[in-house]
Amino acid sequence: MLEWDCQLQSDIGPSSTQLNFRCIHSYARFLSSLFIRYCWKQRLPTALDAHESCLHSMATSRNSAEAWIPGLLSTQQTTLLLFLSVLVAVHLSQCILRRCRRLPGAGCSPPGPFQWPLIGNAVEVGNNPHLSFTRLARRYGDVFQIRLGNCPVVVLNGERAIRQALVQQGSTFASRPPFPSFHVVSNGRSLAFSKYSEIWKMQRRVAHGTVRAFSTGHVRSRRVLEQHVLSEARELVRLLVQGSAGGAFLNPGPLAVVAVANVMSAVCFGCRYSHSDEEFRELLSHNERFGRTVGAGSLVDVLPWLQRFPNPVRTAYRDFQKINHDFYSFVLDKFLKHRSSLKPGAPPRDMMDAFIHTVGKEEESTGKTTSGLRLDTDYVPATVTDIFGASQDTLSTALQWLLILFTRYPEVQAQVQEELDRVVGRDRLPCLDDQPHLPYVMAFLYEAMRFSSFVPVTIPHATTVDTSIMGYHIPKDTVVFVNQWSVNHDPVKWQNPEDFNPARFLDNKGFIDKDMASGVMIFSVGKRRCIGEELSKVQLFLFIAILAHQCNFLANPDEDRKMNFSYGLTIKPQSFTINVTLRESMELLDNTVQRLQTEDNQ
Ligand code: HEM
Repeated sequence: MLEWDCQLQSDIGPSSTQLNFRCIHSYARFLSSLFIRYCWKQRLPTALDAHESCLHSMATSRNSAEAWIPGLLSTQQTTLLLFLSVLVAVHLSQCILRRCRRLPGAGCSPPGPFQWPLIGNAVEVGNNPHLSFTRLARRYGDVFQIRLGNCPVVVLNGERAIRQALVQQGSTFASRPPFPSFHVVSNGRSLAFSKYSEIWKMQRRVAHGTVRAFSTGHVRSRRVLEQHVLSEARELVRLLVQGSAGGAFLNPGPLAVVAVANVMSAVCFGCRYSHSDEEFRELLSHNERFGRTVGAGSLVDVLPWLQRFPNPVRTAYRDFQKINHDFYSFVLDKFLKHRSSLKPGAPPRDMMDAFIHTVGKEEESTGKTTSGLRLDTDYVPATVTDIFGASQDTLSTALQWLLILFTRYPEVQAQVQEELDRVVGRDRLPCLDDQPHLPYVMAFLYEAMRFSSFVPVTIPHATTVDTSIMGYHIPKDTVVFVNQWSVNHDPVKWQNPEDFNPARFLDNKGFIDKDMASGVMIFSVGKRRCIGEELSKVQLFLFIAILAHQCNFLANPDEDRKMNFSYGLTIKPQSFTINVTLRESMELLDNTVQRLQTEDNQ
């Protein structure tokens, strides 16, 4: 049984701690040990000394007592004491100012835990912010306030508060904080990390329209997408089975990353890469480090002083800059090649061509838009970088979750296979048209998304004006974290939310309960809602339906059922191994892929 509890969540490997709170914890310990050593050398009284001096007060000599009299402190000691006093005074006055700086009649600030000087609530938030936030919400309510370093943050939990903010006050909560790391993504023109503005609205409209046109918008685009997934699913099955030969167990993670990245590469750039292409694998191997920097609770942006001297956070930030530069350069190269080979008037070959067409048309047009703004060509590689990056990271994480859940819940795997065999049969592969007739497969997908909540907290939001939520005043430019996990694990909404139970999404006639399904929150809501939701659901359905139709998946009995995860923007299962065998042979997969390719060439 795969349990979702705090114990399991805390089983994070050491690699995930670099940017997160364990690091500040040890850093704080390091600072305090320095301080104690300094006190010991200088004979400043520490708490330990005070305790000792209390115990031995009767025996203390007059000379040593004199050593603690402030008048006898050295210049260094006085400076240190003064520094600490100023720090405490500044912190207290900030707290008081924050409470006083409210609009008349605007309500009070959200409640929250005590905020420590310098680091705020970084330690309490810990390695798994979604769990800490859910715990804090139990104490302070669904809307509460913390501080990370210098930065006050309002945290929203539960469906009511989140919808009240992101849907009912859509544009008020639609911005992003001006974090330095956000400007590094997609050469500073990121759709996902830019603040709410007229140009962002235009970029999002173009991106959303193009993604739809190349995925689910037309019968033809759905068919092409389906073909891409089928080709990659075949290659994935071949490699999984090959790696499992003789009863071996293999880590499906790297293969899943290349498989979904290849689908998106085909959609965006019209090409795919071999699983053994080292350069492509290297490019895709940084998802975890990317997510750790931009995910809620990252310290990079809220403790700017950590950039001034060597420490793990600074190293990771420089690493992050390089990763983004490499990723953007990869897409920029594709953009330049597409632009130079694009024939005027020819239909777009892929998503990159479509963006070049749309933005080019805007540049040519003499009429101004209502806002007087236009997207320039630099937005093309930036937007495609966002789409390619966002999709391969999230979809590969999702695919790994689906495989783990198959192996941890073999009875669910068997039920998915039974439905596929009954509805699709064994003579052909499942396709998109089968989706409405496969409620259990869909229930499995919804439950996997709810249970894993693998994007537990959205990308940080920011407010555009002063506002209030559930009676609490929230000033303009406040950073807002949205805890999706709390919605998906709310015991009022879901019976036994910690159980993995796909049947909860079926009504008494065995159909998908649409209200239940729409209650899962993983693509966020409101103006910043994910633009890849439809594309993701189609891809995940096809991958898992084809894989389950063709293969059996087995957990490694030597591995602990309690699994380790790494937390960033997504929750990623840390390496696990499985054994994959064919239910019959590769014949059906090979023949179907070949037939579709022949039809395409005619
Ligand atoms: C299962 C897969 C996916 C999940 C769970 C997911 C989830 C999310 C979430 C939670 C956000 C942040 C929303 C917010 O800040 O409120 C987001 C944003 C975004 N996603 Fe996805 N996503 C997935 C797949 C994709 C795909 C396939 C694409 C590409 C087509 C994509 C493109 C984007 C973009 C461009 C944004 C930024 C939107 C904005 O800031 O306006 N995502 N996604």
